[in-house]
Amino acid sequence: MSDHTIETLSGEDRRFPPSAAFAAQANVHADVYDEPFEAFWERNGRERVTWFEPFTELYRWELPYAQWYLGGKLNVAYNCVDRHVEAGRGDRVAYHWEGEPAGEARTITYAELQRNVVRMANALKEIGVGKGTAVAIYMGMVPELAVAMLACTRLGAPHTVVFGGFSADSLSDRMNNMGCEVLVTQDEAWRRGKPVPLKTVADEAMGAAPGVRATLVVRRTGNPVPMTEGRDRWYHELEVSDDPASCPCEPMDSEELLFLMYTSGTTASPKGIAHTTAGYLVGVATTHSLIFDLKPETDVYWCAADIGWITGHSYIVYGPLCNGATSVMYEGTPDYPNHERWWEIIERYGVTILYTAPTAIRAHMKWGHEHAEAHDLSSLRLLGSVGEPINPEAWMWYHRHIGGERCPIVDTWWQTETGMVLITPLPGVTTTKPGSATRPFPGIEAAILNEEGERVEQGGGYLVLEKPWPAMTRGIYGDDARFRETYWSRFPGHYFAGDGARIDADGDFWLLGRVDDVMNVSGHRLSTIEVESVLVDHPKVAEAAVCGRADATTGQAIVAYVTLKGNEGPSVEMLEELRNHVAQKIGAIAKPANIVFTPELPKTRSGKIMRRLLRDVAENRSLGDTTALADPSVVSELASRAAEAPTDD
Ligand code: WTA
Repeated sequence: MSDHTIETLSGEDRRFPPSAAFAAQANVHADVYDEPFEAFWERNGRERVTWFEPFTELYRWELPYAQWYLGGKLNVAYNCVDRHVEAGRGDRVAYHWEGEPAGEARTITYAELQRNVVRMANALKEIGVGKGTAVAIYMGMVPELAVAMLACTRLGAPHTVVFGGFSADSLSDRMNNMGCEVLVTQDEAWRRGKPVPLKTVADEAMGAAPGVRATLVVRRTGNPVPMTEGRDRWYHELEVSDDPASCPCEPMDSEELLFLMYTSGTTASPKGIAHTTAGYLVGVATTHSLIFDLKPETDVYWCAADIGWITGHSYIVYGPLCNGATSVMYEGTPDYPNHERWWEIIERYGVTILYTAPTAIRAHMKWGHEHAEAHDLSSLRLLGSVGEPINPEAWMWYHRHIGGERCPIVDTWWQTETGMVLITPLPGVTTTKPGSATRPFPGIEAAILNEEGERVEQGGGYLVLEKPWPAMTRGIYGDDARFRETYWSRFPGHYFAGDGARIDADGDFWLLGRVDDVMNVSGHRLSTIEVESVLVDHPKVAEAAVCGRADATTGQAIVAYVTLKGNEGPSVEMLEELRNHVAQKIGAIAKPANIVFTPELPKTRSGKIMRRLLRDVAENRSLGDTTALADPSVVSELASRAAEAPTDD
């Protein structure tokens, strides 16, 4: 039996120190880590945000709730839009928007964004939205989605954005939980060349959410959709002013609710994660500027996430706009009409900073690097990753084929609940290691604890946060008990993120995935990511997911699900080769008992591998809740492949 909380097996020893040229022009230097916690957040609070009334108290910490920048008054839309126009930067591009259908594009300057936001805010007022009215937004990746969010913040109306791929039930649950009175949606969205009937789904959702009394519908595809008299209004038909003077920005207290972002627990109902005004804005603006080394005058920044997730809220809308950045916003999928779409976009707009997820990087690896090679990606100067641990080989692929071996990579760890990035390299400062998110951001105190709650100086354990930070969630909407139980009960006084991590001899953090996914093989507690990363290290493997299944002798045995690259086909030889590869790289203990080859892995709609479902498949259990899956057909396909797969025992 091992006494380690989580054992660590990987021996990654590649190092990438910052280049002198990057360091010389970077927004931060190593001394930023020396600034005391309070001084750091006080300074950033004053410098990054324009206050209608300055704050008088930095923070108050009444476990588990923190409040930040108390006594201050501000408005998020003012900070993200109006102040840039007032400062003479109205001609700067806020968004280069690229529609999914070929040739559709819009360029929106800050001055145009201001007029759009005012127009939308006046339209919302017209249908009864005022300060405190809860608004749901159910849209695709169109500029009006960001405009609707900003219009809500202009009026002081909290919003919840529901990802456009969610079902009617998911939408009505969220609207009911938040008490939404108004819904902003669009006729249809484009996805992989097909229209997605958002308005029709919204109608069904409203049937189960009687509190919603008015709808604003944005025209996107132009196809006819049902409109309910007295409830639904076309946005383009409302005759309202776009003059900023017609709709001043509502002064908000620092701690007033900005938005809820629902995150699905693995089993229970979704949690409405609450974020408030000032701390959130300071947190996302500070991290966005320092982590992406943003130069607002010259950078073209592209976060390729969906605004329907926290990544899009913090790093497509609020952080970049607060910093006056020029961003790319893309409506569609990376494989439409072909695998070159992303690289075309980077070439066309001269993108300098790209922020995406390991799942997307692995998809591009599977499709092959020739698609990127067909385009000039030399404008890129920095790359980012978020959402899952990044396998070292995916990191290396990103570094070589996208970053041309010159771009620093920031692997950023954070959560819907944390609001902003908490563990990350700082470009120009940090020596990076493929697969490591490196260290806590300045002003963040993180630690690894063992089973007993003692600090682990080197090795694996549970990741916790020891002090509050400005953008941390203010709780689960309407459910204090669940908030305390989920995040604060495992290690009293500490925020427990639910992730395993290890800390190495340099003090760098390596994220190991959700602790629910940890496997126990002959008494050794192994993280899934390390075995997966060794599989992905094999030249023929594009993607891998592992999980444990019950085993009479070892407690659990490892089952691996593997997607091969391009044209590679599965074979018994391949299976043996991969098992031996794992045994050779990390030892016999991690050798998968069986391997199931599959063209796709089950993923959540935000692209994370769903290992819980893989366990169900591995144990021949009936499949639990599959509603969070992006493509439910993947699991039934997997189950039949698993039944046929040769096994070791
Ligand atoms: C995982 C997304 C490893 C982690 C911003 C976390 C990561 C969950 C990383 C939150 C990373 C996110 N390395 N794991 N760089 N970033 N995760 O709420 O398990 O969608 O707890 O927020 O994603 O996912 P969420």
